Amino acid sequence: MNKDIYEFINIIKPIIKHPEYQKRKHYLHHENQSVYNHSIHVAYIVFKMSKNNKRIDTKSAVIGALLHDFYYKPWQDDTEKRPFFKQHGFVHAKEALENSKIYFKEYLNPIVENCILRHMFPLNIHPPKYREAWLVSLADKKDSLKIFKHPKSLPKYIGIKKRLK
Ligand SMILES: [Fe+2]
Ligand SMILES: [Fe+2]
Repeated sequence: MNKDIYEFINIIKPIIKHPEYQKRKHYLHHENQSVYNHSIHVAYIVFKMSKNNKRIDTKSAVIGALLHDFYYKPWQDDTEKRPFFKQHGFVHAKEALENSKIYFKEYLNPIVENCILRHMFPLNIHPPKYREAWLVSLADKKDSLKIFKHPKSLPKYIGIKKRLK
C-alpha cells in the first residue's frame, strides 16, 4: 500500500469504525450497494481528486463525503407514504447533517457541513458553497450513476423510487 492509502485510511478510520456508521453496511443505497460501501467509494474519489490540489481541504472533503448519506434509517425499507417533496431524495441531505451532528459533531466544520447539506444539488436547489462541496456532489453522482443505465432508473438514483423488486 502506498503512503496515500494510509493517509486516506487515517482520515476515515475513526468514523467508519463507529458502531452507528457500521450499521450502514446493512442499509441499501442503490441496487445492492450498501450506504457504507457507497460512502467510502465517494470519499475515495474525493480523496484522489483533491490530493494534489492545494486549494482543497482534503480532510474536510473526505469527511463530508463519508457523512453525505448518513441519514437516519434505510430509506429502501421505509413504507410510510410521503408527499413528493418529502421523499428521500429531497430530505436526506438535511437528515444526514442532523444525524452527523448527533454522532460526529467533533468532525464537523462549515465545509464538511456544506458538503453534506448540498450534495443533492440540483435536486435540492441550493448549490454547494465550497470547492470541497462541489467535489462531493460530483463524486456522489459519479458513483451513483453507475446504476443509471437507462432513463427509467433515474427516479431510483434521485431517491424518489425504490429499487425494483
Ligand atoms: Fe445522497
Ligand atoms: Fe450518495
